[in-house]
Amino acid sequence: MMAACSRQSDSTDTILDVDNTSADVDELGDSWTNYTSIANYNNFYEFSVNKERVAAMAQDFKISPWEIDVGGLVKNPGRYQVENLLTKFDQEERVYRLRCVEGWSMVVPWMGFPLKRLLDEVEPTMNAQYVRFETLYDPVQLPGQNDGWYSWPYVEGLRLDEASHDLTILATGIYGRTLLPQNGAPLRLVVPWKYGFKSIKSIVRIDLVDQQPVSLWMKAAPNEYGFYANVNPNVHHPRWSQDTERRIGELGRRDTLLFNGYAEQVDHLYSNMDLQYNF
Ligand code: MTE
Repeated sequence: MMAACSRQSDSTDTILDVDNTSADVDELGDSWTNYTSIANYNNFYEFSVNKERVAAMAQDFKISPWEIDVGGLVKNPGRYQVENLLTKFDQEERVYRLRCVEGWSMVVPWMGFPLKRLLDEVEPTMNAQYVRFETLYDPVQLPGQNDGWYSWPYVEGLRLDEASHDLTILATGIYGRTLLPQNGAPLRLVVPWKYGFKSIKSIVRIDLVDQQPVSLWMKAAPNEYGFYANVNPNVHHPRWSQDTERRIGELGRRDTLLFNGYAEQVDHLYSNMDLQYNF
């Protein structure tokens, strides 16, 4: 599951039809979702709420130059050029299941580095308890941000121990290729044991804070989307069951796994918590 990088990134960002022809599987034996599906079936509301339209709408999104501010309750706040992060931290391949709260899932071979590396660099102070992430706000390039229904920019958050967990990465690529705009280029969060909406795309700000951040989804529908959003077949969405999911590329539905199959690695983070209440 945490194989070191076996492929080099290349710059062929525009090739969308490179399918997974090898027998690559995750640690549960399930095949990687093909590249075409990962690159063309997207949730990125800043472009469109239509998953099949996001790729086309995002193709001219300007992802370079790109700066990320890391600050808040840290000893060494900093502004980073994304290309410097790519050389500063070794890029590894991480094959993770991505389970959307809507009930579909994929297996994605990400490239990236643990968020903890960046956190160690800025050194959170004693008061830091949460990490707050923010997507670029640019309603010209991101026309969905003109939709007044949501509170833009997209914001997400993690508890500091969740953010420091080795499974939590900042992704920079997929299938050994540079991340495409529709997948959250140039830098997006990936937290594989949580519903996909926690994995915020195209990040420009990361702040260490002492209060639990309020995400875009918590503001939009607080009774439907909680702060934790751990994948859990025992805690249903108020409007649909979370028992099963449709793996993209498969016909039937499969059972949803507690913490998306990562319980062994993460359940200690929630040992004393009521997961129905902290949904
Ligand atoms: N990040 C931003 N900024 N805007 C979004 O609309 N959608 C989320 C998440 N990150 C979203 C986002 C949701 S609901 C999911 S399931 C994943 O991105 C989808 O990632 P993918 O398109 O790379 O599969």
